[in-house]
Amino acid sequence: MKSLFSPSILPLQPLLFTPLKSLMASSLTHTLSQDPPPPPPHLDDLLCSNPQQQHQTEEDASLSLLDTSSSCCLGSPSRYLSGESKVERAWSHWTKLGRPKLIVAPMVDNSELPFRMLCRKYGAHAAYTPMLHSRIFTENEKYRNQEFTTCQEDRPLFVQFCANDPDTLLDAARRVEPYCDYVDINLGCPQRIARRGNYGAFLMDNLPLVKSLVEKLAHNLHVPVSCKIRVFPKLEDTISYAKMLEEAGCSLLAVHGRTRDEKDGKKFRADWKAIKAVKSAVRIPVLANGNIRHTDDVHNCLEETGADGVLSAESLLENPALFAGFRTAEWITGEGKRNKDGKLDQADLLVEYLKLCEKYPVPWRMIRAHVHKMLGDWFRIQPHVREDLNAQSRLTFEFLYNLVDQLRELGVRIPLYLKDVEVETQAVEVSANGLAN
Ligand SMILES: Cc1cc2nc3c(=O)[nH]c(=O)nc-3n(C[C@H](O)[C@H](O)[C@H](O)COP(=O)(O)O)c2cc1C
Repeated sequence: MKSLFSPSILPLQPLLFTPLKSLMASSLTHTLSQDPPPPPPHLDDLLCSNPQQQHQTEEDASLSLLDTSSSCCLGSPSRYLSGESKVERAWSHWTKLGRPKLIVAPMVDNSELPFRMLCRKYGAHAAYTPMLHSRIFTENEKYRNQEFTTCQEDRPLFVQFCANDPDTLLDAARRVEPYCDYVDINLGCPQRIARRGNYGAFLMDNLPLVKSLVEKLAHNLHVPVSCKIRVFPKLEDTISYAKMLEEAGCSLLAVHGRTRDEKDGKKFRADWKAIKAVKSAVRIPVLANGNIRHTDDVHNCLEETGADGVLSAESLLENPALFAGFRTAEWITGEGKRNKDGKLDQADLLVEYLKLCEKYPVPWRMIRAHVHKMLGDWFRIQPHVREDLNAQSRLTFEFLYNLVDQLRELGVRIPLYLKDVEVETQAVEVSANGLAN
């Protein structure tokens, strides 16, 4: 049975032309010797961040990228292409990537490399980086090295920036284009910090500026530009917005079906009808975002909106194996008989995540956030284990592996479930290279 979950062409030979490791090593040195010392940053104050997360001062030496201008050759910039050719090119790029359908949404401090790799192992076809601040990215080497890491298997990859200056955005984008398949512009962040910084969803008040950001990238980058938007309260405004972005050179549009004021994803359902209207109005690939909590949502959303793929955020944080068909107990009510223990639980996933963090170091604040998300339900059963975790001002892997063992010894196990009908078709198959087939 061919499922909605198989990309029509299997991903993928990563489109890298230089071995990444050697590029990374050489350019790390290059970056260190070229850049001025970074200013003392209060970066978290500048970004679209998750206020619930605790931040640690410890830092990891992370694999980093680099000061390099683009030499990647996915095509030449689209400066001279007609509207028709731009659309054709957008589809040919999407097709070359295998038309990924199941995609990890951008999440500040949460969609970092080890988490992306975990989601890819469990069925994600593609992923976004967390939003990066374009100006800080161009100015601050420490920020670049810490906030953007990748590896050869981390493809297809969208690298997302927030911006309000076309030249700065282009400068930032050029540094990452050899390592990604899209440079994405965040036009959806609704938080106060984005209002103050004049980016994200607040650019919806200045569409000429949005147009100039998209045009700047589309005219000068070798990789395509994508945009992630929220909807306007009025459907006709959303449609004109989407058409303007397409016209400006956007090659792929991710539509979060909530307005700028609908910040609470649990309170407001995403408007799939608006996404469907956008999909019908534009000719480039469209991704739907909002209310993807398990694989039934994926099926329904693709069917109802006609979108080319879906993004999931919050639900993936609790259940990174969502795209492989696993679901938390919350989503089996009423039809429990059709679900069975998938022989996987969130603690297993956390251990896998921690191993990936040992391989691909990231700041401890990100790891801490994932521990809370993945083990939230477990901590509700044994709150003193959470208190123990919160009392640690510095974390170690040893402490975290012990924490999982402690929960197991206390007899906590909350399985993830697989729907009977999905067991045969959707259960993740892990190939020799550790990636999901
Ligand atoms: C912790 C967290 C961080 C987020 N950071 C970003 C971000 O960096 N860029 C962005 O475009 N959206 C960001 N979002 C929004 C998500 O990408 C997504 O649009 C939103 O959560 C709706 O999807 P969902 O219903 O699957 O959660 C973030 C969401 C969460 C929960």
